Amino acid sequence: MGAPGPAANSSSSHTGRPLVEFQNVWKTYVTGAEPVHALRGVSINIYRGEYISIVGPSGSGKSTFMHILGCLDTPTSGRYLLAGTDVSKMDEEQLAEVRNRRIGFVFQQFHLLPSLTAWRNVELPLVYAGVGRHARKVRALSALEQVGLGNRADHHPNQLSGGQQQRVAVARALVTEPDVVLADEPTGNLDSRASADVLAMFADMHKAGRTIVLITHENDVAAAAERVTRFRDGRFIEPEQAAA
Ligand SMILES: Nc1ncnc2c1ncn2[C@@H]1O[C@H](COP(=O)(O)OP(=O)(O)OP(=O)(O)O)[C@@H](O)[C@H]1O
Ligand SMILES: [Mg+2]
Repeated sequence: MGAPGPAANSSSSHTGRPLVEFQNVWKTYVTGAEPVHALRGVSINIYRGEYISIVGPSGSGKSTFMHILGCLDTPTSGRYLLAGTDVSKMDEEQLAEVRNRRIGFVFQQFHLLPSLTAWRNVELPLVYAGVGRHARKVRALSALEQVGLGNRADHHPNQLSGGQQQRVAVARALVTEPDVVLADEPTGNLDSRASADVLAMFADMHKAGRTIVLITHENDVAAAAERVTRFRDGRFIEPEQAAA
């Protein structure tokens, strides 16, 4: 303590406008008799180039947070600014556009289309973005090269290992050059070796300047990130509380 050096909280060393700004965001689901407050006043800034992990128990609201961050859903109240634009009140069509342009997703279940080869899966976000056929193929193959799967481009998902399928999913997340890559339990279905591979890929992406948000309930996975945050009962908790 007290020693000179870089700030412990990496966010404090960033200048300028955050890429992601949550201001007192609440999300309430009303499905049964009782409303469920999945998010209870989430406030956080995430800066370009940060690699942040969010760790918390099951049901604490991590995926809900990621859905809003990824423009798959909107807050019940509060504000969410992405690259300075208020996305909290956008309609579905506007959200889809922002999502396609700015966000890359990686999920626990890979979510690859079984009928498509690896490169066809990777090019899909570019189809939605209206990129031409030739450019799509070039970019999809290049993204597969980046994740070390250039030699598996013509394989179907069922011809790939779990770890390789997750690499294809990472390539698909990267192919649009998104502002932020969101990964929700990306190692949840992988053995320890494939998990280490995926985390090594994220470390490389971070070095290359990508912004990464990694959600997990495993402390050792979370520790791979540069900034580790804790989530409980629908909000981020302060480091002092986390230690208690
Ligand atoms: N679509 C929904 N409708 C109603 N309630 C929901 C919905 N999605 C989530 N919830 C509730 O909101 C709370 C937070 O759920 P969420 O999926 O965000 O947790 P999580 O931290 O991602 O958990 P896990 O680690 O198990 O994935 C839970 O109580 C859940 O039951
Ligand atoms: Mg979840």
